[in-house]
Amino acid sequence: MEHAILRPQAERRYQEELAALRVWDQGNRKPENWLLSPKAVRLFILGSSQPVDCGGQAVTIRKKYLGNDALVERCIITLAGNRGLMLVGEPGTAKTMLSELLSAAISGCSTNTVQGTAGTTEDMIKYSWNYALLLANGPSRQALVPAPLYVGMEKGILTRFEEITRTPAEVQDSLISVLSDKVLNSPELGDDGLLFARPGFNVIGTANTRDKGVNEMSSALKRRFNFETVQPVGDVALEKQIILNEVGALAAAAGITQPLDEEAAELLATTYHELREGVSAEGHRLERPAAVMSTAEAVSVYYQTMMTAWYYGDGRMDAGCLVEHLVGAVAKESDEDMGKIEGYFSTAVRDKARREGGAWTRYYEARSRLK
Ligand SMILES: Nc1ncnc2c1ncn2[C@@H]1O[C@H](COP(=O)(O)OP(=O)(O)O)[C@@H](O)[C@H]1O
Ligand SMILES: [Mg+2]
Repeated sequence: MEHAILRPQAERRYQEELAALRVWDQGNRKPENWLLSPKAVRLFILGSSQPVDCGGQAVTIRKKYLGNDALVERCIITLAGNRGLMLVGEPGTAKTMLSELLSAAISGCSTNTVQGTAGTTEDMIKYSWNYALLLANGPSRQALVPAPLYVGMEKGILTRFEEITRTPAEVQDSLISVLSDKVLNSPELGDDGLLFARPGFNVIGTANTRDKGVNEMSSALKRRFNFETVQPVGDVALEKQIILNEVGALAAAAGITQPLDEEAAELLATTYHELREGVSAEGHRLERPAAVMSTAEAVSVYYQTMMTAWYYGDGRMDAGCLVEHLVGAVAKESDEDMGKIEGYFSTAVRDKARREGGAWTRYYEARSRLK
């Protein structure tokens, strides 16, 4: 039996869908070395309203990214061309998720990834050496240890570069020649040192606008990428749906069989949406917290509350517990943020409790847990 793993990579999590789409995809136009056509990649990420017919078998393709369909289409087309794709935006807007889904669908591999940090070096991007082999036999392809960029070029697959702006600018710039000439030189190997990229190679970068930022990226590097800004979900109903989908998947993987509570998802989706926008549906002007109010955060607040109910409680989402986990998620950046949340409860939540009652009233009554 296969070992369970905590978070299977996208190509494994969705292997049935991907296999079905390969059958469905017969006859569609496809860039060289892509496993799926742009049409099928789009379908994989955006899902289909009806099950697709894959050789007589009907397979449902789940919608994975909710939001801007045109953005997804443009991303796919960019990757078929000769520029890299740079996804920029606030944390928690599904940049990483999109980059994983695109790589899984196009190359069948989402793990060929550089994680950008302040300590990322060129070795971690291009290649390094197995020193035992290097000393024994001198420089050779066998002694060279390929890093994700090398692997992507050699195999003709996508290389992901997460949080690219966290790496020092001069290290980022080592991508420039590779992205323009599609060739990587390892001078140590002499005449054999030129690696020409195979078709199918490209780079997907992600960058958070809260980090040091794309401003510091060199303009030479910027020109090698098409930039796509991923916006936070703009619609409460959609955000609620994402919360329910994501928590549903987390709970299923953890063997938690407690039914999902739509009202709790609605409270959280509304709270996160309104605090992010700085205005409530009733027209109260709200102070935006400095902490990131992303959908991903809302998912984690919901899931924490759910686990508390599952392991300690009676399986019902408790409003007091929800508020406590909300505090845990928001009280990170500054003390002022808690005041802003209290302000939200004493205006917007109060009004919704008066108007709608029910879950909003329980939520409002739990405001004493905001400490
Ligand atoms: N538009 C969206 N559609 C689907 N899921 C979303 C969306 N926005 C956020 N999410 C959820 O938020 C999670 C966090 O996204 P992630 O890719 O880590 O964000 P980022 O890399 O932008 O910081 C996703 O895995 C997904 O569960
Ligand atoms: Mg990310």
